[in-house]
Amino acid sequence: MSKIVVTGGCGYIGSHTIVDLIQNGYEVVCIDNLVRGKRSQLDCIAVITGVDVPFYEVDMCDEVALSKAFDAIGAIGGVIHFAALKSVPESVEKPEWYLNNNMGALQNLLQQMQLRQINHLVFSSSCAVYGSPVKLPVTEDCPFADQVSPYALSKQKGELLVQEQMLKNQNLRCSILRYFNPIGAHPSGKMGENPYEKTTNLLPLILKVAKQEIPFLTVNGNDYPTPDGTAIRDYVHVCDIAHAHVLAFKALSDSTKPQLQTYNLGSEQGYSVLEMIHAFEACNGRKVPYSIHKRRVGDPAAIYADISKAKKELNWLPINDLASMLGSAWDWARKK
Ligand SMILES: NC(=O)c1ccc[n+]([C@@H]2O[C@H](COP(=O)([O-])OP(=O)(O)OC[C@H]3O[C@@H](n4cnc5c(N)ncnc54)[C@H](O)[C@@H]3O)[C@@H](O)[C@H]2O)c1
Repeated sequence: MSKIVVTGGCGYIGSHTIVDLIQNGYEVVCIDNLVRGKRSQLDCIAVITGVDVPFYEVDMCDEVALSKAFDAIGAIGGVIHFAALKSVPESVEKPEWYLNNNMGALQNLLQQMQLRQINHLVFSSSCAVYGSPVKLPVTEDCPFADQVSPYALSKQKGELLVQEQMLKNQNLRCSILRYFNPIGAHPSGKMGENPYEKTTNLLPLILKVAKQEIPFLTVNGNDYPTPDGTAIRDYVHVCDIAHAHVLAFKALSDSTKPQLQTYNLGSEQGYSVLEMIHAFEACNGRKVPYSIHKRRVGDPAAIYADISKAKKELNWLPINDLASMLGSAWDWARKK
């Protein structure tokens, strides 16, 4: 079997996906520039699977270095492209860096794939493309929002770039996966998220409070039109997200399916910030003190996914409940 290249494989979702790919018999090669990922993630993968994944430390924005890595790898059956910067507030501070990195890496990847006739691609997108959605639950045909963060813009533009490339190369087949909020860690307790130190994501912050690294959690807004006034999001276990990639990659070989497939990956369940705090406390027996602040500009009141398309066409079902997400995340975080 030819190899699958996983870009951004030293990051959170990429590393969990590599484990699932290996456990499904795939030979995997990882490319990452370690701007956010950690090389130690490959050791975690080796402990769980017994496989040392070949690794190329390459900035995908460097066209020459990327080409050399592809030369060295040899026959490649497809690519799962996670490599990107992903912090919304950081993207507002450094919009050029975000757009150049996320678009540049994708552009170079598509060029290499075209040159080498590598025709199967899974691309990481995000529910951020919908902004404040026009309807709930969000289906894949909801329009892209205007006025989004540079991060969300890089995902919107990335999706369009993939579509443009498909017009140039009729053999290219692609699955675009729009994740909602992946959380949790591998059930072995041996791998999980290594969040960026300035993360603003809810669960990494809850974990920091639970570990007493910060004194309390800042809740941004309790005056949203939701039952308890705090914002509602759709959380989904990272291992369920990882498995969706294996299914999406397999589905690319099915020529009866369309050349481009786009899927929401969430749990279809919305939880408010306060519900998440209380669920974490109940699940892990740790108090999470919090303080209410004002809303952040641009945060939607509620967003959760309709995942019927992924269920029907990929035969995907998220199997982990909230307790499993919160328990596995704490199991990993407390050991670090
Ligand atoms: N985690 C989430 O909440 C979430 C939600 C929606 C979409 N996504 C998308 O999923 C993908 C993976 O997210 P993650 O949570 O695993 O993030 P992550 O930061 O843990 O992993 C991304 C990896 O990409 C690498 N990378 C970034 N730019 C690169 C470049 N130019 N060349 C080579 N490597 C590069 C980083 O070093 C990192 O290891 C990203 O595309 C992200 O935008 C994530």
